[in-house]
Amino acid sequence: MKIAVFAGDGIGPEVTQEAVRVLEALGLPDLELIAGDVGAAAWRKHGHPLPEATLEIARSVGGILFGAVGDFECDTLERHLRPEQAILGLRKELGLFANLRPARVFAGLEDLTTLRPEVAAAIDLLIVRELNGDVYFGEKGMRMTPDGRRKGYDVMSYAEDEVRRIAHVGFRAAMGRGKKLCSVDKANVLETSQLWRDVVIEVAAEYPQVELSHMYVDNCAMQLVKNPGQFDVIVTGNLFGDILSDQASMCVGSIGLLASASLSEGTLGLYEPIHGSAPDIAGKGIANPMATILSAAMLLRHSFGLEAQAVRIETAVSKALADGIRGGDLGGSAGTREIGDAVLARL
Ligand code: NAD
Ligand code: IPM
Ligand code: MN
Repeated sequence: MKIAVFAGDGIGPEVTQEAVRVLEALGLPDLELIAGDVGAAAWRKHGHPLPEATLEIARSVGGILFGAVGDFECDTLERHLRPEQAILGLRKELGLFANLRPARVFAGLEDLTTLRPEVAAAIDLLIVRELNGDVYFGEKGMRMTPDGRRKGYDVMSYAEDEVRRIAHVGFRAAMGRGKKLCSVDKANVLETSQLWRDVVIEVAAEYPQVELSHMYVDNCAMQLVKNPGQFDVIVTGNLFGDILSDQASMCVGSIGLLASASLSEGTLGLYEPIHGSAPDIAGKGIANPMATILSAAMLLRHSFGLEAQAVRIETAVSKALADGIRGGDLGGSAGTREIGDAVLARL
């Protein structure tokens, strides 16, 4: 059972360490953890944020546990050398096109979100975010206009097969949950979105039991704080999914709670918290590791079929929260290690 561990930058190593402790505590036979360098850490050591050796490790394992990348000292490097290219490169190179970002309110946290408790209590949704296309991977650049102005550009586009395969993921996810799918786009303005909507409607014919709706992304941002309980599964593009999932995290209390799975057509998957390297709190031992611990649970479920072990981890996290264990992100004082200990004790 080979798992790659790419801890990365900032709080990445701190939160990943706790998730590794949880994985090791399960007593899984044949568990082999293989560390690899990514992000600014890799750039400093090897001159590249995603060294070939790291990619080789990634291709040799069943699942990847990823911390976070990002370092403000690297923000002026040429783009291909920036830490973020590690995660973007892994997603693209490994064909990890389907990003699952579940958000639900944990018992005991209803009063701790920035929404009214009765609004927050109803949240149990899944954002299915496309991860290999959109404005992230279109042609981009910076040029001079003839009249001497700098002009930056990033081309947004989706091909119909790219939309079709993520739509299927969305519909299948809905079939396994509340059978409601909301496709989020900006078809009132963008051609990319019009194609998105047309293709989602075509795919819907194969899933007559799923109730399909469409929503513009600006409205969706509003509805997520007005009445998030209306959503079951949301399927959307790369950029909109990035933004809406950070917003959904605050609806359930903290970005330190939201895990994600990035899946390919095969069994290989990458699992990471949705948050970044959090340079403002890095090195202080105060980051909440729960999102990463919950990502490890998703890893066991999706890449190794270990549903019972995944539920065991999720239950331990839920219990720790129900028992009042709170990091600074939730208004408490428990540090990273203390939260890890609390989850381990409840395993
Ligand atoms: P961020 O998610 O790192 O942090 C946003 C805010 O949330 C910060 O105030 C941070 O302290 C807080 N936060 C995040 N995770 C937390 C946790 N586990 N516990 C407690 N508080 C937490 O986003 P940012 O500040 O916009 O970006 C910082 C860097 O991370 C940038 O370089 C960015 O590119 C990168 N980034 C990387 C990933 C990734 O590796 N997948 C994701 C997002 C951002
Ligand atoms: C995320 C992050 C990444 C993204 C960045 C770091 C490239 O924000 O995983 O949500 O935009 O996808
Ligand atoms: Mn993001």
